[in-house]
Amino acid sequence: MPSVGIYVATVYGGALDVAEQVAPLFESAGYDVDIHETPMLDRLIEPKPDLALFCISTTGRGDYPGNFTGLSNALEQQRPSLEGLLYALIAMGDSEYEETFCGAGRKLDALLTELDAHRVVERLEVDASETPMADDAALPWVEQWLADQS
Ligand SMILES: Cc1cc2nc3c(=O)[nH]c(=O)nc-3n(C[C@H](O)[C@H](O)[C@H](O)COP(=O)(O)O)c2cc1C
Repeated sequence: MPSVGIYVATVYGGALDVAEQVAPLFESAGYDVDIHETPMLDRLIEPKPDLALFCISTTGRGDYPGNFTGLSNALEQQRPSLEGLLYALIAMGDSEYEETFCGAGRKLDALLTELDAHRVVERLEVDASETPMADDAALPWVEQWLADQS
């Protein structure tokens, strides 16, 4: 059974809600799903999931939420090779923050690519000003990706 690890970065729970809403879609498609609410590097690389899905909101001024800094600090400081890691990324933010819109998701996407991970689909950016319920954008995006695989 293929595995998907869903790595969550959240302050107010919206990104966790997205993770919990998309999980059954992967399960119905035959994936074993593991949601990581406090993501750590070892759970990304050993064992490596067949797909890593990041659900990442932004706080501060383009910053990672606190529950995610264990993983982001490890990636930034240890710079492990992520060759062979396939990932997808849902970045959540608010365009009211203008230049730091989706800053954490964008920063993470760039970092993962630098570390040789491979993004399997264009990043989804969800703007809370336009789409208050992020599931409205995330569910069809995941459904489409799964349909493209079959
Ligand atoms: C204190 C604070 C700072 C924020 N900073 C940013 C930001 O720099 N860029 C951005 O795009 N969104 C920013 N946001 C908006 C959140 O990322 C957005 O509302 C997101 O949907 C929250 O997700 P969560 O419920 O998972 O924490 C900020 C929100 C708050 C409350």
